[in-house]
Amino acid sequence: MQDIIRQLEEKRAAARAGGGERRVKTQHDKGKLTARERIQLLLDTDSFEEWDMFVEHRCTDFGMADQSVPGDGVVTGYGTINGRLVFVFSQDFTVFGGSLSEAHAEKICKIMDQAIKVGAPVIGLNDSGGARIQEGVASLAGYAEVFQRNVLASGVVPQVSLIMGPCAGGAVYSPAMTDFIFMVEDSSYMFVTGPDVVKTVTHETVTQEELGGAVTHTTRSGVADLAFANDVEALLQLRRFIDFLPTSNRAKPPVRPTADSADREEPSLDTLVPLNPNKPYDMKELIQKVVDEGDFFELQPNYAKNIITGFARIEGSTIGIVANQPMVLAGCLDIDSSRKAARFVRFCDCFDIPIVTFVDVPGFLPGTAQEFGAIIKHGAKLLYAFAEATVPKVTLITRKAYGGAYDVMSSKHLRGDVNFAWPSAEIAVMGPKGAVEIIFRGDLKDPKAIEARTEEYRQKFANPFVAGHRGFIDDVIMPRATRRRLARSLAMLREKKLENPWKKHDNIPL
Ligand code: HXC
Repeated sequence: MQDIIRQLEEKRAAARAGGGERRVKTQHDKGKLTARERIQLLLDTDSFEEWDMFVEHRCTDFGMADQSVPGDGVVTGYGTINGRLVFVFSQDFTVFGGSLSEAHAEKICKIMDQAIKVGAPVIGLNDSGGARIQEGVASLAGYAEVFQRNVLASGVVPQVSLIMGPCAGGAVYSPAMTDFIFMVEDSSYMFVTGPDVVKTVTHETVTQEELGGAVTHTTRSGVADLAFANDVEALLQLRRFIDFLPTSNRAKPPVRPTADSADREEPSLDTLVPLNPNKPYDMKELIQKVVDEGDFFELQPNYAKNIITGFARIEGSTIGIVANQPMVLAGCLDIDSSRKAARFVRFCDCFDIPIVTFVDVPGFLPGTAQEFGAIIKHGAKLLYAFAEATVPKVTLITRKAYGGAYDVMSSKHLRGDVNFAWPSAEIAVMGPKGAVEIIFRGDLKDPKAIEARTEEYRQKFANPFVAGHRGFIDDVIMPRATRRRLARSLAMLREKKLENPWKKHDNIPL
């Protein structure tokens, strides 16, 4: 017995030592924490229950028979974040570069299977050189087992990837199938083929950072949702983020007590929208002024900035916010913003998070780049996502709601539950100037006559009442009362039940 206990202690010590002092030092020298240090920061103190500490690889090729580290390069288990259960795997770059062996993959799959069974999020801390080269196809099989579980878990439990080191080749496809990807600046990168292959095939010279660093993926490709300056900041923000989410599709999002009264008025909102309809204003000001304590967790803040997405709370309950941003491209919908918002709306719908939509949209962005890039299909994604969503949907039109974009942005016609407008709302097929140019094409030459017709159109349509007459808008509300009206609507909708017709699955335009 004493012998077993001694062996146990030795094995635990070997697992905790990872790849040894030298490699741990190298990891620290790069500004990176170790796999275990990361878990400690992510989870509540002393809450981590580790599994499979004694798992070792079974490879005997290329000298691997006498190279083994208990745990095999990934630390797995479960714990809590602010008291709520999460499962976590944390790849240990100090052990075979965090590369994925058959055994390493089995450990990840085990916690994913358990997370699906008990209904808890899966958090992956990725720091890996990819497939364990010595294992060949066994390692590729391991990846595919993880991919399969990513798909089965999708929509059942939230899955979040935090990329904290290399993530290359086919390995990128597991994070890509999770709900959110966060990255650490300067130490993480993701690409399907690295700079050397790129150079050989396309003769382009590009650095790792340019090709797949955190800045690239949060500004250009939109692959990642957020970039953080270092491991510590990323892990602490991930804790804050998880607090907004339900543990599974069987649970409601957590309710956090708030001192912020639901009746709070914001008189400054009465003057948020400028008198000149062509002048922008910051939609984020509206968001911050109506949500609990101004706490808004924005996603993809530097990608497709013409639409804003993120989580906040009203009366302590999580809401997903989608909002046009008049400060960027006048708030137009385009390919990137449609994709960004569509995926967000679908996440909210999977996990029973009510969606609040703030609308100021002059239409879809014109141009050959958009048409050749398939704005038709991409715009349809957002339309589809709002239309299929059965969660509570509350919409507020602050100013422009023109054309097809009016329909798309969670309109009454897409089963919007409560649709409000501010007095400044203009709901029409297009703006007055464009409308007159088309209706009176060729007939009106005199600038005065054009101006008169434009004014006539403005008088008729540049208001919320035409839509109000038809019941497409439930009420025209004073901006200062927005928080109260949203809170009441969301409270009324708390027990909403709506089901779409049975189907195997839908066929969203991809
Ligand atoms: C086995 C690996 C490894 C791997 C790194 N190591 N990657 N061992 N399989 N894939 C080991 C190294 O031998 C080294 O061991 C230690 O990890 C640290 O690696 P370094 O190269 O010293 O670190 P660094 O300089 O930081 O470079 C990191 C790296 C590089 C850029 C990730 O290691 C690298 O290019 N690795 C190979 C990447 C790769 O080609 N992977 C396969 C991709 S294909 P010692 O003992 O010296 O500490 C793929 C397919 C997935 O992943 C398919 C899914 C469908």
